Amino acid sequence: METVVSGIRPTGNLHLGNYFGAIKSFLKLQEEYNCFFFIADWHSLTTHPHPDNIRSSARTILAEYLACGIDPDKATLYLQSDVRETAELYLYLNMNAGIGELMRTASFKDKARKQMHIADAESDGSVEKEIFNENNKHSVSAGLLTYPTLMAADIIIHKAVKVPVGKDQEQNMEMARRFARRFNTTYGVEFFPEPASFYMSDKAVKVPGLDGSGKMGKSEGNAIYLVDDEKTIYKKVMKAVTDAGPKEPNSKKPEVIANLFTMMEIVSSKEAYNFFDEKYNNCEIRYGDMKKQLAEDIGKFCAPIRERILDIQSNEDYMVKVARIGAEKAHESAARTLKEVRQIIGFRPE
Ligand code: TRP
Repeated sequence: METVVSGIRPTGNLHLGNYFGAIKSFLKLQEEYNCFFFIADWHSLTTHPHPDNIRSSARTILAEYLACGIDPDKATLYLQSDVRETAELYLYLNMNAGIGELMRTASFKDKARKQMHIADAESDGSVEKEIFNENNKHSVSAGLLTYPTLMAADIIIHKAVKVPVGKDQEQNMEMARRFARRFNTTYGVEFFPEPASFYMSDKAVKVPGLDGSGKMGKSEGNAIYLVDDEKTIYKKVMKAVTDAGPKEPNSKKPEVIANLFTMMEIVSSKEAYNFFDEKYNNCEIRYGDMKKQLAEDIGKFCAPIRERILDIQSNEDYMVKVARIGAEKAHESAARTLKEVRQIIGFRPE
């Protein structure tokens, strides 16, 4: 069975965008592949080096994954920090990773620019310049620079061949392939397979935000969380931006309206969708009614998940057990790889 690895950074609760963008495909993948899904708590240190609540956020995500249907008997569900071998592989990979290639990745530049307090408008060269500027009192950590090496280690430690990720991870995935290849050529072995990105099929649903802007996201502040109750969902949906309505039959939908329809396509029945689509095309649409329907359908979708989240979170023993079993399984796979890696490089295998 082929191996799949994917990680999620524990920054807040899971929202509908996470569910339809990723978790839903994880549910299918766990039936067909040897899956490792982990919570990237070490990665969160790259931007939050002193998180007060790293354990509780990890626990929240764990409970939410389980509530969504990730089955610990099928997939290996674990915390990144529970598999220390990853840190060792990260060290080896870093020895052959170039500072230049790491500095050129787009996500590093974005985050470094923010951390060095460089305005977006300034040219790209300013990141390098400010990093070397000893008068700039802000600094960028080596951990942030080597984010892609850690991610490569996460993946190849299980010799994964497929990695379900969002489009925004393309460059990190390219780096992972490069580091896997480089290990093989450096030591003259055919050891690590090159992991392929696996863009979630099912037309990779991109859940829109309801505030008119593009995508649903935690940082965009427009997310509906799986753990939201019906009242909260209702409030959020009713606040969604609309317009004055179409003036002519069969008009093209402006983005804010198209987003509402996309949401409806995802959670509502075909009948409901067609009903409002027709109303829109006849210029008879009442957005208030549409939003009510949408809020109700999102509420119906989230309610059972929410119930399971609360249930699982109240069962401390179960959470601890799942995390322990996941850690053991992931550790076993990682230890097997590391034993060989040490041998290949020339260290004592155990
Ligand atoms: N970088 C990924 C993200 O921000 C998270 C991640 C860390 C990951 N390690 C990974 C994803 C390994 C897939 C495989 O979403």
